[in-house]
Amino acid sequence: MADWLEALDRLAHERAKAGLTRQLRPRAAGDTVVDLAGNDYLGLSGHPRVIDAARQALETYGLGATGSRLVRGSTDAHAALEDSLAGWLGLDAALVFSSGYLANLAVVRALSAVCDLVVSDAYNHASLIDGCRISGLPVRVAPHNDPAAVAAVLDAHPGRAAVVTESVFSVDGDLAPLAELYRVTSSRGALLIVDDAHALGLLGDAGAGGVAAAGLAGAPDVIVTATLSKSLGGAGGVVAGPAALVRHLVDTGRSFIYDTAPPPAVVAGVLAAVEVARAADDRRAVLFRRGAHLAATLHRPVPAAGVLSVPAPGPEAAVAWAADCRDRGVAVGCFRPPSTPDGSSRLRLTVNAGVPEEAFARALQVILECAP
Ligand SMILES: Cc1ncc(COP(=O)(O)O)c(C=O)c1O
Repeated sequence: MADWLEALDRLAHERAKAGLTRQLRPRAAGDTVVDLAGNDYLGLSGHPRVIDAARQALETYGLGATGSRLVRGSTDAHAALEDSLAGWLGLDAALVFSSGYLANLAVVRALSAVCDLVVSDAYNHASLIDGCRISGLPVRVAPHNDPAAVAAVLDAHPGRAAVVTESVFSVDGDLAPLAELYRVTSSRGALLIVDDAHALGLLGDAGAGGVAAAGLAGAPDVIVTATLSKSLGGAGGVVAGPAALVRHLVDTGRSFIYDTAPPPAVVAGVLAAVEVARAADDRRAVLFRRGAHLAATLHRPVPAAGVLSVPAPGPEAAVAWAADCRDRGVAVGCFRPPSTPDGSSRLRLTVNAGVPEEAFARALQVILECAP
């Protein structure tokens, strides 16, 4: 075997010994597994209005966008989705990307034009971390959810900084102190970038997200990013903020310019999902009731939105727990290092308002019975 393949084999062996091997499991069409692992919080991925809109756009435009929007032109669907997202989030303008990951890469990098430091929460998602890396700016990692620590970094820094956080954190589902963070950033001339991936559709009036819920929609120097793949059940990402920022991203955002645009059918489906999500207080009520019930049963804090994490004794125990649930027809997330910021292992449960009531109750029973 070639040297480099032997080296990869050795690394795979070390990961296996540490319980860190990842498995790709087949997912059959018509899968009847109860989903408490995905992020289809409002159950919109299969909503009839969403499917209809996507089907019509598929027939109109074909399967793919066939190129970057700068090269192939920008469809009505893309423009309509951007208007709709900006209006929903209460911001001037929005730009869609083909994933939330790429939106985060673009926005942090873009701010290197006007900032000279990034301050990043220790629990931030990999896409924000990678955005910080490719920005080329010095990065200071702030302790998780600690506005005083952020203030200390900013006070010691004479230039303009960008502070990057999630609103609802993806692993533990806890809420960032956004209003406090904004007091810190706005009083020190810093920008605040908030990844609203796990709050969009769930928090705030009409589900306008965590930034809106904190009273910061449209506040100066606040930029919002989100994925369109969670509560909106589709795919893609968005950066929303002042029109000048969107202009800057169109001109310089490498993951916008050099990436094929999200497929028009997906964009049209997501546009329909935004309309459904804005009016979905009933689905949000189901989600919060279920989250509170899960938390009470598993003796965990009530989740801020749809993510709840349950500690496991170690990576192997977490994997075995998730596998046993799976064997009994319940999909749950399993997070281990390096995907957990504090090196511990846990199940991650995501509440899905689209799961029938009886299936949800059964799933909870299965999780309890399979616990280590
Ligand atoms: C907080 C957060 N930001 C960004 C992303 C990336 O979004 P996408 O899956 O659309 O690339 C995710 C997960 O998917 C996430 O949890």
